[in-house]
Amino acid sequence: MNTQRNATLTVDGKTVELPVYSGSIGPDVIDIRQLYAKTGMFTFDPGFVSTAACKSEITYIDGDAGVLLYRGYPIEQLAHHCDFLEVAYLILRGELPNAEQKQEFDTLVKRHTMVHEQLIRFYTGFRRDAHPMAVLVGVVGALSAFYHDAMDISDQYHRDVSAFRLIAKMPTIVAMAYKYGRGEPFMYPRNDLTYTANFMHMMFATPCEKYEPNPVLVRALDRIFILHADHEQNASTSTVRLAGSSGANPFACISSGIACLWGPAHGGANEACLNMLEEIGDVSRVGEYIRRAKDKNDPFKLMGFGHRVYKNFDPRAKLMRETCHEVLNELGLHDDRLFKLAIQLEKIALEDDYFVEKKLYPNVDFYSGIVQRALGIPTQLFTGIFALARTVGWIAQWNEMIGDPEQKIGRPRQLFTGAQKRDVPPMARR
Ligand code: CMC
Repeated sequence: MNTQRNATLTVDGKTVELPVYSGSIGPDVIDIRQLYAKTGMFTFDPGFVSTAACKSEITYIDGDAGVLLYRGYPIEQLAHHCDFLEVAYLILRGELPNAEQKQEFDTLVKRHTMVHEQLIRFYTGFRRDAHPMAVLVGVVGALSAFYHDAMDISDQYHRDVSAFRLIAKMPTIVAMAYKYGRGEPFMYPRNDLTYTANFMHMMFATPCEKYEPNPVLVRALDRIFILHADHEQNASTSTVRLAGSSGANPFACISSGIACLWGPAHGGANEACLNMLEEIGDVSRVGEYIRRAKDKNDPFKLMGFGHRVYKNFDPRAKLMRETCHEVLNELGLHDDRLFKLAIQLEKIALEDDYFVEKKLYPNVDFYSGIVQRALGIPTQLFTGIFALARTVGWIAQWNEMIGDPEQKIGRPRQLFTGAQKRDVPPMARR
């Protein structure tokens, strides 16, 4: 972190100097850690729109230019040339693996895909119609009770073991949530398959029939995983960091990230977007929904549109649209009703003044639901797929935070607007 200059702040006639730091790219930051000590004031930034909560070397986003880099590599190049486990290695370790490192990493992940048999009991405690995200919050949190052997978070080796366990077991855990809801037997992982093909096997195979994953569809799902692997300090990642800042174990932290991701403003948007497209139903009703989205008195928002950071386009949405075409072509679904509707909705919204002025563009979740539905993934599991992929980012960010010597427990302050100190009135006293 580079400091060459100060920012000068004058409050009530008192001047304070605050250091300014530059990262490798992106906006500089003003270090306000001494602000309260020097002025007796806090900063106020609900939603953290101007606050850098940490330093990180993992992911960089330029929202105006539509740039997303994992460890410096553009998402477009990673999506076209790498597979998910290579990207996972990159996010965790900082560099792309060579052939030998890749083989070693793939083997290590594959060898940890099975879950403890007793974990099955957690599933049976849920109703069959439980939302898979509810199941994932519970089951991933429950992993904390299984791995006492590597729970010393100050030990880098223990942290690595937890990272492997989480990345390797998430596909199994997500597929089991699906199988449980359908009342079908759980499928054991197949270590001869790739990470993503194995996930499809655990989802769609049954003990009665052989299942051969279609390589085009495997590649599409693998791309979904790559596009969702990390995204800087978003709500769920910040949740994982905040939970981890108290020293909580990694499984509990990831479970808190899953809970945050579930919300429709975040990862739940892919499910909400597909439900919205189903509800709109026909191109003739697009105008009505665009009107509703623009109406200040209507809480309805166009799901899959808008982003806190991307203000020109979401590079992931472009790649997802490309994948959508590939999958629908492969499956002979070019005339898919919802896909046509999505294209029309996107076109109308992009020409509408409201969306243009507010810089609202399709985000990654706009097309990911259509792809996932075509792959046979049920709508309720879409956010679970997101959680599976984002586990890589969450655990890398958690690990980075724990290894940072400047790390402190997260503890925001507040602007208190409630009642001032007062006495319990005589009438209420006993
Ligand atoms: N439809 C209609 N109006 C919208 C939409 C939308 N999808 N998104 C934002 N706006 C309006 C919003 O009402 C506000 O209007 P005004 O200035 O009049 O108050 C303005 O645009 C700015 O929006 P904001 O809510 O203040 O922006 P934000 O940065 O706090 O929220 C967001 C970003 C993603 C939560 C929001 O755009 C949204 O709710 N989108 C729909 C949900 C969605 O698709 N989420 C997935 C995000 S990408 C996947 C992920 O990373 O999780």
